[in-house]
Amino acid sequence: MVTVALGPRSYGVKVGPGLLGTLGAEAKELGLGNGCAVISDANVTPLYGARAMESLRSAGFRPVEITVPAGEKSKSLEQAQWICERMIEAGLDRRAWVVALGGGVVGDLAGFVAAIYYRGVPFVQAPTTIVAQVDSAVGGKTGVNTRNGKNLIGAFHQPRLVLADIETLATLPEREFNEGFAEVIKHGAIRDRTLLDAVAELDRANLAPIIRRNVEIKARIVAADEKEKTGERALLNFGHTIGHGIEAAAGYGKLLHGEAISLGLVAACRLSIAKAGLDPAEARLVTALLEQYHLPVRLPEGIAAEAILAALKADKKFEEGAIRFVLCPRLGEAFVSKDVTPDDVRQAVAELG
Ligand code: NAD
Ligand code: GLY
Repeated sequence: MVTVALGPRSYGVKVGPGLLGTLGAEAKELGLGNGCAVISDANVTPLYGARAMESLRSAGFRPVEITVPAGEKSKSLEQAQWICERMIEAGLDRRAWVVALGGGVVGDLAGFVAAIYYRGVPFVQAPTTIVAQVDSAVGGKTGVNTRNGKNLIGAFHQPRLVLADIETLATLPEREFNEGFAEVIKHGAIRDRTLLDAVAELDRANLAPIIRRNVEIKARIVAADEKEKTGERALLNFGHTIGHGIEAAAGYGKLLHGEAISLGLVAACRLSIAKAGLDPAEARLVTALLEQYHLPVRLPEGIAAEAILAALKADKKFEEGAIRFVLCPRLGEAFVSKDVTPDDVRQAVAELG
């Protein structure tokens, strides 16, 4: 088990096969209340809903199943409100708790519901995608999107436990499996050069070690800078400033999150060559790894560089020229630079076309 060390709010992240079946017993161990909501999406509920519900029931809980449509569009305030209303109708009160069963969309949305329901109830993350197991289920960032951008409404709310059942990854479609490697490659680029070698030679029959390594990287960063105050946690945004702009410009749901981040990583590597002395051969290695996972490294048809820049301009800091941008001077290291200008970003976006 990996521990996210946050004093009294510390929690464990378990990675391995069959963990979903232990959900009820684990929740009992944590002393959680009887009533709970298992929040999932329309793809995941039919696959794993029954396993989670059965585990909870057999441990004496009274779970209510709540299913939202699959996809990024569900990460909205309206959807969060709809879930809260279902929970109220089901008689769940302040002693209730939440299970987030699914990918990063469900994790961010259900975590946000847990943060606001009766001013905050506990929750357990049961991530079922690579993105969620290596990144989003760990660290307590929860939230929803608005028309103006990603994750603009949200709360820090740490889970009580994360159960990353790697058996659930077997049903991930190929595209969703591959997209997760954008975040894995990001972790390697900012913190662990050897992780990139492991990504290049991945054994799909043995995913636990690579997922655990990513969790360790993220857990350490979150423990050092939970609320993104010192700049340490901001390093996790490598590739995300431009990536989020691309996601918004494409229209939520067109590109998968990891696909937009892949393009953001390519642009961030180019900026790192220009502004931080990254060796172009190391940048090419990152691009080659992204390509190995069939992730985009050039802007797909129909997403104009202008639209991305317009999405970035929604960020006032960007317009005022005071952007903080994560750069990577050599693989395995990163820092936050104040040296990147809007023109540099424009140039990097243009080069993606
Ligand atoms: P997702 O949750 O939309 O899942 C991708 C697709 O896979 C969906 O269609 C889903 O229904 C399906 N799916 C999930 N698990 C499955 C399984 N086991 N078998 C078959 N299908 C399955 O997307 P994602 O890539 O997991 O997460 C992306 C989201 O995570 C974005 O909203 C992003 O902003 C967020 N994110 C948050 C953080 C954070 O720190 N909170 C970090 C990274 C990403
Ligand atoms: N995924 C970025 C963070 O958790 O800070």
